Amino acid sequence: MIKDSAVSSHCVQLSAAHPVLLWADAGAPCLQAETLAERLQLPLIRGKPAHQTLVLFLDADGLALGLSDMPCRHMLRADFSRILPRIQPQRLKSELLVRAAKIRKRRSTTLLAVDATAGLGEDAFLLAAAGFEVLLFEYNPFIAVLLEDALRKAQMLPELATICARMQLQCGDSIQLLQGLHSPPDLVYLDPMFPARHKSAKVKKKLQLLQMVEQPCTDEIALLQAALAAQPQKLVIKRPLKGAPFAGLKPSYSITGKAIRFDCLQVRS
Ligand SMILES: C[S@@+](CC[C@H](N)C(=O)[O-])C[C@H]1O[C@@H](n2cnc3c(N)ncnc32)[C@H](O)[C@@H]1O
Repeated sequence: MIKDSAVSSHCVQLSAAHPVLLWADAGAPCLQAETLAERLQLPLIRGKPAHQTLVLFLDADGLALGLSDMPCRHMLRADFSRILPRIQPQRLKSELLVRAAKIRKRRSTTLLAVDATAGLGEDAFLLAAAGFEVLLFEYNPFIAVLLEDALRKAQMLPELATICARMQLQCGDSIQLLQGLHSPPDLVYLDPMFPARHKSAKVKKKLQLLQMVEQPCTDEIALLQAALAAQPQKLVIKRPLKGAPFAGLKPSYSITGKAIRFDCLQVRS
């Protein structure tokens, strides 16, 4: 569940810079549209908004973020079914993130990961598929509701539902939420927004939309300090392949791919 207070305060800040409308299509459930508009403090409209308006679009398939003139298939939705091919056992084992997240000394049968920059939850889904219980922290209310929508839809597909049952979303700032953990997690994972790195037009479009509601991370040091203070066994940070280490942190080792790398720090043995 998303906490209303956290959603509203961040929303007011964001909507000043990027006005967003909630556009409910004819097929959208009325009650869901009204509840969402109230929770996010967004104007709710039913007809097509003016040219190039940034919208949260609600239809019978759920929620999407886009511009009013875009075909809705080009809008940004969180959808775990797209990742299903990547969780086939052989492929999952070779996922860079899953390799980076490997925990050498298990303290119990359950492994707990905190994804402190959850975004649309794709990386968290990979971690959950690899067996972690995952707490997902996301402070951007627009991104959080897209993620919440994906988790809701996943309950209807058995192959996703068992994995998503291990994922729990909390909307709020990780710098505070990490302080409220009951016990040290096995893993803290950070994937703070960094400037566009992909060349494909499709990915660029997705990033551009995300960047209209979320800016690159500016509080690197505070986020890193909060992650370390949570005393995970391991900290993993996604970076662009040639990017500087996050907040100047020297990793114990890195796992590198073609465009990205995962910096890994063994925080405690
Ligand atoms: C690059 S995206 C993460 C993408 C994600 N790994 C995925 O697989 O979809 C970064 C996300 O972290 C969120 N974020 C950044 N700083 C945060 C913080 N201090 N607390 C909570 N969320 C944060 C941003 O709002 C953004 O949605």
